[in-house]
Amino acid sequence: MTRQGWSPARRDVLRLALGAGLGFCAAGRVDAQDAGARRARPQPNDRFVFAGGLRKNELVTLADLPPDGPPAVTYPMDPATKIVRDESRLNQVLLVRLDPSRLNSDTRARAAEGIVGYSAVCTHTGCDAWDWQPAAGVVKCPCHFSEFDLKNGAQVLNGPAPRRLPALPLRIVDGVPVVGGVFIGRPGFETGGG
Ligand code: FES
Repeated sequence: MTRQGWSPARRDVLRLALGAGLGFCAAGRVDAQDAGARRARPQPNDRFVFAGGLRKNELVTLADLPPDGPPAVTYPMDPATKIVRDESRLNQVLLVRLDPSRLNSDTRARAAEGIVGYSAVCTHTGCDAWDWQPAAGVVKCPCHFSEFDLKNGAQVLNGPAPRRLPALPLRIVDGVPVVGGVFIGRPGFETGGG
């Protein structure tokens, strides 16, 4: 005789409910892991994808970075999971190819085939649009006109920015630029960034 309240049908319902609950838990864990990966700063060996425009989320190759620019605005991407680290805009990276002979020694040591990487968020109040001055190898922030010399570690040449753009070491793997280390300095800005 079946005990009241534990009919086979009810057991099946409970089993299904338990399974569904565990499924939700597992899905929640995966979502949390994905969110963590998307928020994480660039990690060594990450590839780069375009941050916006018609080619958003497409892989950035050497062919996409012509000599003397213009810079590409990118996000890092985990090469194994293909997760793009776009949860924080402070993960945006400017990539531009310059003549290696124009780079100072520290910048050249971090560069790969003349390609340099920097945080794409202005250290003043956090704008992330740029005007490119190819002859000088300088990016200018249109918000308050700070200028950063990408040949020389993105040091500030003019304007109110209080510090250089953090640099990101690079390597070339299989014909594409990849992250070679962590940001040197903290990406962010002076009024609420970080
Ligand atoms: S936000 Fe770039 S100069 Fe002010």
